Amino acid sequence: MSHSYYEPTQHGDVLSRLNLLRFIREHLYHSGVSAGTYLEFGVFNGDSMWDAHAALRGFIDHYVGFDSFAGLPRLDTNDQASAGLMPNWAEGTVRGGTRQQVFNHLVAKGIPKEKLTLHEGFYEDTLPKIDRQALAALGPCHVCMVDCDLYSSSKVVFDFIEPLLVEGTWLLLDDYFCYRGSPRHGQRRAFEEWLSHSRWGVTEWGTFRGWGKAFLVYERSAEG
Ligand SMILES: C[S@@+](CC[C@H](N)C(=O)[O-])C[C@H]1O[C@@H](n2cnc3c(N)ncnc32)[C@H](O)[C@@H]1O
Repeated sequence: MSHSYYEPTQHGDVLSRLNLLRFIREHLYHSGVSAGTYLEFGVFNGDSMWDAHAALRGFIDHYVGFDSFAGLPRLDTNDQASAGLMPNWAEGTVRGGTRQQVFNHLVAKGIPKEKLTLHEGFYEDTLPKIDRQALAALGPCHVCMVDCDLYSSSKVVFDFIEPLLVEGTWLLLDDYFCYRGSPRHGQRRAFEEWLSHSRWGVTEWGTFRGWGKAFLVYERSAEG
């Protein structure tokens, strides 16, 4: 049986991403933090980056995004084995504008260009070349949005962000309930694997946008 696809598909009282980010603003305010960074893995056309700026301006000094700007990579054997559960995801799908188009769009909407950096390329190639010390020196990571759909992509991202997180970082996993919510597939699998060896623990905050789940990061060694 085939179904038509309608956008938007979220209904009812599902918490919107923008309202979640508005609450995060309140949470940052009451946490007394200094300005920091917003990191995003999976920028597409920049809609979530824009929501972040709309809600968090003043608390974020740097918006740093990472995307191929060419859609999803070739599915590796793990993602191929899971593909029956998310059949619309294939190489080259989920492709938005070019890096320059998305950059121009976000600047036109109001993100100051000196505060915006978009890194282009597949994570496997680009992330190992990023200077994480320089990224961390920009300020504490207040929000990290992981929205890159696949297990293989998310796995590289979780390993990359390990030294960039701080106590209290909001970790927003946009694809948590994909693959029918199974912990054996997709972003959730990569997340569980990373948590099993990470120095960070997570406090579950709640769900957003239907597919996503928000967490707050804490230092495990302080657990005692
Ligand atoms: C669902 S879209 C992001 C949507 C965006 N956060 C929003 O809500 O507006 C997923 C993005 O992840 C990117 N992506 C997935 N795997 C990637 C990889 N391995 N390297 C680079 N980009 C990747 C795709 O190019 C795509 O733009």
